Formats: sequence, structure tokens, C-alpha cells
Amino acid sequence: AGEYDLVVVANRLPVDVTVTDSGIETTRAPGGLVTALAPIMRDADGAWVGWAGTPDLELDAFDDDDIFMVPVDLSATEVEAYYEGFSNGTLWPLLHDAVVDPEFHRAWWNSYVTVNRRFATAAAKAAAPGGTVWVQDYQLMLVPSLLRALRPDLKIGFFLHIPFPPPEIFSQLPWRKQVVEGMLGADLVGTQRVSDAANILRSVRRHTDLTTRGQVVTVGGRWTRPERHVRIAAFPISIDTTAIAALAETPEVIERAAQIRRELGDPAVMLLGVDRLDYTKGIRHRLKAFGELLEDGSVSVPDVTLVQVASPSREQVERYKVLRDDVEVTVGRINGDHGALGKAAIHYMHHSYPLEEMVAMYRAADVMLVTALRDGMNLVAKEYIAARTDLDGVLVLSEFAGAADELGQALIINPHDIDGLKRAIMEAISMSSREKRRRMRSLRRRVIDSDVQSWAASFLGTLRATPARDSHV
Ligand code: G6P
Repeated sequence: AGEYDLVVVANRLPVDVTVTDSGIETTRAPGGLVTALAPIMRDADGAWVGWAGTPDLELDAFDDDDIFMVPVDLSATEVEAYYEGFSNGTLWPLLHDAVVDPEFHRAWWNSYVTVNRRFATAAAKAAAPGGTVWVQDYQLMLVPSLLRALRPDLKIGFFLHIPFPPPEIFSQLPWRKQVVEGMLGADLVGTQRVSDAANILRSVRRHTDLTTRGQVVTVGGRWTRPERHVRIAAFPISIDTTAIAALAETPEVIERAAQIRRELGDPAVMLLGVDRLDYTKGIRHRLKAFGELLEDGSVSVPDVTLVQVASPSREQVERYKVLRDDVEVTVGRINGDHGALGKAAIHYMHHSYPLEEMVAMYRAADVMLVTALRDGMNLVAKEYIAARTDLDGVLVLSEFAGAADELGQALIINPHDIDGLKRAIMEAISMSSREKRRRMRSLRRRVIDSDVQSWAASFLGTLRATPARDSHV
């Protein structure tokens, strides 16, 4: 056993690594999860087990302020088979309702098992006796049960950040039983939506002979005492609302927002899309709707312009290369048809930006377009709302993003319904400021009440309150 009372296990460490002449430098990369967990980890003696993002890089464990970082090394072959392959070529599309065909390869699965075992071993070494281990996301679905076999004394939580599909889709996976049983090593399995939790329970009933009652699965008992209970429930994730709202109110961000409008040539309407360049995000559907609105004359350049930020993601995976080509051809075609010198219909950026610049874009945009075909939550939708302390702006939001369960005051759309999407964009453009304020006020209440700090506290509170593992009903 190790010495850390709270161990987070995630595919990625929350650090950026740079290899310099004099060695290796790491800097904290503040994502939502690490922001939420840093104070909890400071109080609890926390460690974070994860990959530093570069293949074949053997890093020693190191202290980073309040978090002890435990790097897990992946070989170049494992990056291909476990990360790009099974995680992002099999599970990612499958769990997003197979919006593109998942690929099933036995070599990828074998690597996934090997790497999950490595993460479980590292967590088992780091955790203090009776400690809490919180495993994150689809890259590590086997870790809960592998870890329980090594360390039955631990409280183990698992959170799935992405959707879980109905059993009709999930059952395609040749290793469906192993994956479901992998998660059931946890005491608490958290999902984004109530429907994701219900889908996991349906797969448990279909692929195992375990009994379920409400949200609880009973493991062991008859043959393998002691009996154990696994709760599967929704804990919708959120953002650091206070920090984003504060950033949005700084003079620098307010000035930058005005400057962005000027740089765009002071359009009457700025539409905005912000996504990782991923086929789940519905970028093509959004471009199609905007292209048709230009085509049929409902909107025109330079009055209306679309800014699309597409941050590079998983660029070695074939599907992502195909998507990039597709998006870039479409953007080029729309700009070719409707743009003029210095007046682009679409401003397309294939970069990622610091949070300050993103918040300035949110403040500058009249309409935010979130058109995901399937999305666990979509934090961009919540960030846009948090940034609009001025109560201006309209959010157009896909019903297939987890955020739609909470953000009913957005204009909710089905991205496959291009006419419906076009109508929603026009409604957003012409919405009265009174109506915008009314909606934004109610949306803001939601993201202020439920931020990422309350999400983490609620998951960990529920996990720690689960009965000790040898309890009998
Ligand atoms: C999604 C997943 C995360 C993942 C992130 C970035 O949000 O739920 O687990 O870390 O995408 O993807 P990447 O493959 O670059 O880690």
C-alpha cells in the first residue's frame, strides 16, 4: 500500500511536458477536472496517475504543488493500439451511438487490457490503506475490477465522461461482458445523464447474471462472499463557473471581445462554434445549415459571419483525418461562394486558444452553436453561459448533448433536422433582448448552482457514504 488517501486515475496527467536540452519540464495544464480536484487533493493528500501524453517517455513521479503526479509510460505501439486504437477507434465511436463505425481488432483489445492493468497497478501502489481511488473515463473501464483484485480495502469510484449507448448498440462489442464487469469493480459508477446510467444497468442485466435493484447491482454473494453493491447513478459534470464569470468581467477580456468584433469587420451578427475537431460534434451539420441560409438569402455576408474554432484532436486516427478534410473542403466552398475580399463567411481556425481568448470569443458572440450528434455533456455550452454575465447572447443546443438535460432554456435542436436548425439560428438572430435576458438569467442560475466543485464533492461524498464492502442486505 502507498500513502495517498485520494488517488485520481485518468488517461492523461494534468500536465504539459516539454523535452528540452537540459531535460524534461512539466507545467500544470489546468483543465476543469484538475481545477475542481486540486483543493480536495491538497486537503486529502492526493495523487494523480496518468500518461504524460508522449510515447516512450519514462518519467519519475514528481510533486506539483498539492498533487503528487505518477506518470504511466506508454510505448509507441501502445499509443497506437490502446489509445488511438481501442480507446478512440473502438470505444469512442461505439459509446457515441456508433455515429461512425467502430472498428474491432483483437490486438487493440489485448493492448487495452495490458495498459489498464498497468494503470491499476500504479494506483494500487499509490493508494493508502482504506483510501479512495477515482478512475476517469472510457480509456480505463477495466481499471476498477483490476484494482479491486489487487486492493480490496479501497473505495473505488468510476466516472464515465462520455455517453453509454443502449444495449442494442453496445452489444456489438466482442468484449462487452469484460467491459461491463470491469466497471463493476467500483463501488460507485457515475454517468453524465440518467439515461446513460439506465443503459449501463440494461447491459449489466443483458450480459451478466447479476441482480439489479433500482440503481444498485449486487456482485458476489452466492458463491463469492462477501457480497458487494455497486451504485450506478448520474452526476452531471460542470465547469468552474466562478472563475469563468470573473474572467469574463476583467477589462482585458471585455476589451478583447470588442476587438474581436472589430477584427471581424463589425458584423451585425457573430455566430460561434467551438469544438475539438471530432465527428461527434456535428460541425458538418452546422456548416450545412449556415451554407443553406446564405444560399437562400436568409442571411448574407458581411452582416452575418460564423467563427468556427476547431481544436486539433487525435490527428493520427484515420476518422479524424477524413473529418478534417471534409470540414475544410466545406468551409472553403462556402467561403468561395459567399465571401468577398476581406469578408469571409466563415472564419475557421484549426488551433486551440488559452481560456482568456475563448472567454473573449464567448463574450463577443451573439449566437453560440452547439450541434453535437452525441456528446457526454458539452462544457462549451456551459462556459458560454458562465461568460455571459451581461445576460446577452443565445445558446442553440443539441438535444443529443448531455447539457440539454439541464439547459432547457436554450434553443434546443435536433442537428439532423437541417430545416429545424436553420429556423433556430434565425430565431436566435432575431430574438428580442428581453427574451434573451430572460433565458440567459435562468440558464445562468443553473450553472451557478451546479459547478464542477459541487460535482466533485457530490460524487466523492456519495462514494465515501457507500457502505463498507462486506455489508450484507
Ligand atoms: C473527451 C474525453 C476525455 C479526453 C478529451 C480529450 O473530453 O472524455 O477523456 O481526455 O476528450 O481527448 P484526448 O484523446 O486528447 O485525451
